[in-house]
Amino acid sequence: MIHNKISDMFKKEVYIERRKKVAEKVGSGVILFLGNVEAPLNYPDNSYYWRQDSNFAYFFGLQCQGLAGVIDIESGENIIFGTEITIDDIIWGGPQKSLKERSESVGIDIVKDYSELSTFLKNAVKSGRRVHYLPAYRGEHFLELSKLLSLKTCVINEYVSRDLIKAVVSLREIKSDIEIVEIERAEDIAYEMQTTAMKMAKSGVYEYEIAGALEGITLKHNGHLSFHSIISINGQTLHNHTHNNVLTKGRMLVVDAGAETDTLYASDITRSIPVDGKFDSRQRDIYEIVLAANLKGIEGIKPGINNVENHIASVTTLLEGLKGLGMVKGDPLDAVMNGVGALFMPHGLGHQMGMDVHDMEGLGEDNVGYDENLKRSTIPGIKSLRMGKQLKVGHVFTVEPGCYFIPAWYDIWRKENRCADFINYDKVAEYLDFGGIRIEDDILVTENGHRVLGKPIPKTVEEVEKACNE
Ligand code: GLY
Ligand code: MN
Repeated sequence: MIHNKISDMFKKEVYIERRKKVAEKVGSGVILFLGNVEAPLNYPDNSYYWRQDSNFAYFFGLQCQGLAGVIDIESGENIIFGTEITIDDIIWGGPQKSLKERSESVGIDIVKDYSELSTFLKNAVKSGRRVHYLPAYRGEHFLELSKLLSLKTCVINEYVSRDLIKAVVSLREIKSDIEIVEIERAEDIAYEMQTTAMKMAKSGVYEYEIAGALEGITLKHNGHLSFHSIISINGQTLHNHTHNNVLTKGRMLVVDAGAETDTLYASDITRSIPVDGKFDSRQRDIYEIVLAANLKGIEGIKPGINNVENHIASVTTLLEGLKGLGMVKGDPLDAVMNGVGALFMPHGLGHQMGMDVHDMEGLGEDNVGYDENLKRSTIPGIKSLRMGKQLKVGHVFTVEPGCYFIPAWYDIWRKENRCADFINYDKVAEYLDFGGIRIEDDILVTENGHRVLGKPIPKTVEEVEKACNE
């Protein structure tokens, strides 16, 4: 069945320009982008929520299943391979535009039946031309590429085009003004999600009630979640997707959630909320430290600096704060460079964000967050940073420091007496029942520095308490 989900597509010139640029960057050969197909859930006609592949959507715009887009660099032809709608599609799915009309709306006037793709690619290979494709991340794509290119599925990702990966990253990572508008639509939905969670965070409420309400907000705006929400009074579990707990006074509720617009742009926001809307003194202490780390991580963002510097600055602020509570000893920066940050924050400061909430991660984390000028650190904590490289105007990424007390992780460190010069283990032990706190915003790099995207979501202790009690 054909779903043309997009409500407000970009003008066709946007896609024409993107395809022209990627062809120029790759230089020669044939570029192949596979769109996504339906994935059945429990029987063929009952499928998982369908979502277009982001690279296909970026270059070809169409939000319907079973398409492939080809750019023939030498001939300059752009082709959509797909299946024209049938009367069955109209009977079951209603009147809809033909594939030809939809292809024209994204600047493509050559449409071929999908069955011709295999021969097209085989002829290209026979005449010695390179077929450039991106890493597969779905079983269906492994199988399809295997069939189309006569390769074993196990080597599909060994033959991906490095030139195409590089070209796609260089284009998609610089967000245009129209993309920023879409991301800010997603931020506005996230505002509603977070302030709703603040109002709902009362003892006796189940996490799943909040999860349902937040997903409902995304649907109400003709969108979806940009990833499975993390809504948990056990925020020390970094990606806690189970929502079975009842909220109890004394716990912090971590709400890490975002929306995806109908044009497939994401937001990713985290707020940490005291159940019943009032911070106790221990919660306030840790919250203020994480907030200072969040502000520090944002403060230094500007074109030309390496984002790994922001990570180090933010985690240094975190450890400075924990030193104030007696948990950390010595020089905080030294502590960070010795890997102490990983005890309290075993993840990086942030990741790029755009059409994928972890933007382009399917192309390889290091291909997106690092480059020939900056290799990933090997220091615990710092090595977990996804977006480390030099910042450019148009980059969009998250700043999401956190502080977590993970008993099993603490036990390993203490047993091995890791970084003992920097850690007061007895003091940390007093917080092992605390849980975790994370505060996340989405930032655009601008000529003059940066802009926090979206309208400000309550973030200070006072703002969060006020929003909880409105
Ligand atoms: N918001 C979830 C993550 O960044 O991994
Ligand atoms: Mn994130």
